[in-house]
Amino acid sequence: MAKLEVRGVYKTFFPGTPDEVRALRGLDLTIEPGTFVVVIGTNGSGKSTTLNAVAGTFRVDSGSILLAGQDITDWAEHRRAKLIGRVFQDPLAGTSPGLSIAENLALAARRGLPRGLGRAVPRRGVVDLRERVKPLGMGLEDRLDNPIGSLSGGQRQALTLLMATLRRPELLLLDEHTAALDPRSAEQVIRLTEDVVRKQHLTTMMVTHSMAHAASLGDRLVMVHQGRVIFDVTGAAKQRLRPHDLLEKFEELRRSDQLDETAAQLLREAYV
Ligand SMILES: Nc1ncnc2c1ncn2[C@@H]1O[C@H](COP(=O)(O)OP(=O)(O)OP(=O)(O)O)[C@@H](O)[C@H]1O
Ligand SMILES: [Mg+2]
Repeated sequence: MAKLEVRGVYKTFFPGTPDEVRALRGLDLTIEPGTFVVVIGTNGSGKSTTLNAVAGTFRVDSGSILLAGQDITDWAEHRRAKLIGRVFQDPLAGTSPGLSIAENLALAARRGLPRGLGRAVPRRGVVDLRERVKPLGMGLEDRLDNPIGSLSGGQRQALTLLMATLRRPELLLLDEHTAALDPRSAEQVIRLTEDVVRKQHLTTMMVTHSMAHAASLGDRLVMVHQGRVIFDVTGAAKQRLRPHDLLEKFEELRRSDQLDETAAQLLREAYV
């Protein structure tokens, strides 16, 4: 668990072309160690881009990113991956479908270790894996030799979450990791998420479109809009939040965006 600092980050995709998108526009966000932050915002507001900027999927145009006091702005993605655990929306991402559960977990356990260390899965390792998988409550401990490809989406996401947190990352990034699951599996994976984040005191950012989850989970809620943080609540105010309050916040945004649009339209008309 480490402190994350995102300072004045800008990112424009396809700059200077008709497809230009100003995805991040001076994003500032400091997350204290061990804090569980829920991230919400409309489609295209910059939530995934924020997580990708932190994970190093692309270079940002300006601004800086610090993790555990180190400036990681210029670090390659694979170097950051040693410190950061990630789970995506797609249950197919993050695991190797042809490999067994045990092999996938063994790979995750070695993440960030020097090459050649612990290449084979030692017997003790197998016992450990059983014990790690059992608390998922899905009976996967008896299927360690089965290929990951044979599991349901929910089982896969539970395993991906386990893999992402096996070596206690400094930062955990979850991008709508339950959005593709049926309601029951989604709840299961959410419970596992809460459990692992609490037990390991992980600094966590979780993107969700579920207002129920956004209201009930985490220590802090951040709303991203047009590539910036526009709403940020923590402590007692966060605990008091209800899904209804968040829906109202979205409605407020929609109204102010409409006003912006009307103003822009008036300006356009004034100049023709
Ligand atoms: N790799 C990319 N190349 C070009 N444009 C991108 C890329 N990634 C994101 N964008 C654009 O940047 C903007 C922000 O996208 P982002 O994926 O961060 O939104 P989001 O808040 O995660 O939305 P959603 O809720 O739909 O997942 C969008 O207009 C999107 O089309
Ligand atoms: Mg997204």
